[in-house]
Amino acid sequence: MAFVNENFLKLPGNYLFAEIATRVAAYKTNHPSASVISLGIGDVTRPLAPAVIAAMQKATAEMASEGTMRGYSPDRGYPFLLDAIVKNDFAAHGIDVTQDEIFVSDGAKSDTGNFGDILSADNLVAVTDPVYPVYVDTNVMGGRAGELKNSAWSCIQYLPCTAQNSFTPALPTKRVDVIYLCYPNNPTGTTLSRAELKKWVDYALQNETLILFDAAYEAFIRESDVPRSIYEIAGAKQVAVEFRSFSKTAGFTGVRCGYNVVPKELLVKTASGDKVALNSIWKRRQATKFNGAAYVVQRAAEAVYSPEGKQQVQETIDYYLQNAGVIKTGLESIGMKTYGGVNAPYIWVQTPNSYSSWEFFDRMLNELQIVTTPGAGFGASGEGFVRLTAFGKKAATVEAVERIKNWKL
Ligand code: MLT
Repeated sequence: MAFVNENFLKLPGNYLFAEIATRVAAYKTNHPSASVISLGIGDVTRPLAPAVIAAMQKATAEMASEGTMRGYSPDRGYPFLLDAIVKNDFAAHGIDVTQDEIFVSDGAKSDTGNFGDILSADNLVAVTDPVYPVYVDTNVMGGRAGELKNSAWSCIQYLPCTAQNSFTPALPTKRVDVIYLCYPNNPTGTTLSRAELKKWVDYALQNETLILFDAAYEAFIRESDVPRSIYEIAGAKQVAVEFRSFSKTAGFTGVRCGYNVVPKELLVKTASGDKVALNSIWKRRQATKFNGAAYVVQRAAEAVYSPEGKQQVQETIDYYLQNAGVIKTGLESIGMKTYGGVNAPYIWVQTPNSYSSWEFFDRMLNELQIVTTPGAGFGASGEGFVRLTAFGKKAATVEAVERIKNWKL
């Protein structure tokens, strides 16, 4: 009999969103006529942009003909998509990123989860708390987390993000090798200013720390002082990998496409102290374990950068941000305390009457038929909060807010 990777046995319960889906399914089975509104998982509801659909149709037609069909994608993605990414996401903002620093993938969840493959199990890892659970769970799988005691992993350094520090984490108190940052933040919906992000880059430069920067929600940034890429900060290319996603930018949650940037000057070290470039190691990993995003999908992603695509995608993002405004102003009008939702599609809501996150989740589901995400599911500092998503349909979002406003808690 084969031996199991026991790190997997350390993981408690279900993946957060799987647990919520199970609870909601059970509720729906028991209440078949209930009109349940999901403000839980950040899944999109708007159709794909017409420019994206047209590109997918054209690419599908190419696949139907011997002269134009495509097989395996190049390792790092098709040059047409790499070129569009370089020009639009970086060069247009004065950032120097080259095609051979980009790796197209099936999304930021896989990329942030897989990246630990090429990092030693001995690295000391820091995460903000609350945090997107993929970062922590995949470090547990990779043997870097230690043991779970009182809802915290013994080898992970947690950086609390609370109302008291305006959800801006303090730098680690002891040196760490790897830090995960996600801005605009999932789950709190808050951001770091350029000056705040610079502190992290400076810390990383001084301490030779690797920053894994998840910018999946960059398209929702509205305020000019909020950096869209960590590479806006001087020196960041020496210390940071950036993850991007078309899921939230262009509604690709079901299509699957993202990319990450691994700068060529970003080095890590071997146990004997030799320096090696992370770019070539990640390239080797991807070439071995991944066969690229589908041609049709990469053409769809390219269309996001066309003039029509940009405008259509922008309209969708505006739609979601309007939802965020409806939720925020609605809840605040009845005295609830909310954070985020300005440069991000998430609203972080303090539970009233000191309800725990899961209690409040259960009450909202049972009494209002609204699905939320309990803050405690993102880490200990998320206790006392729930996360609401702005990715719902407008009418359902307005209806949910009305239910909350009329609720006799
Ligand atoms: C979320 O709700 O946090 C996200 O949709 C999950 C994900 O992107 O994997």
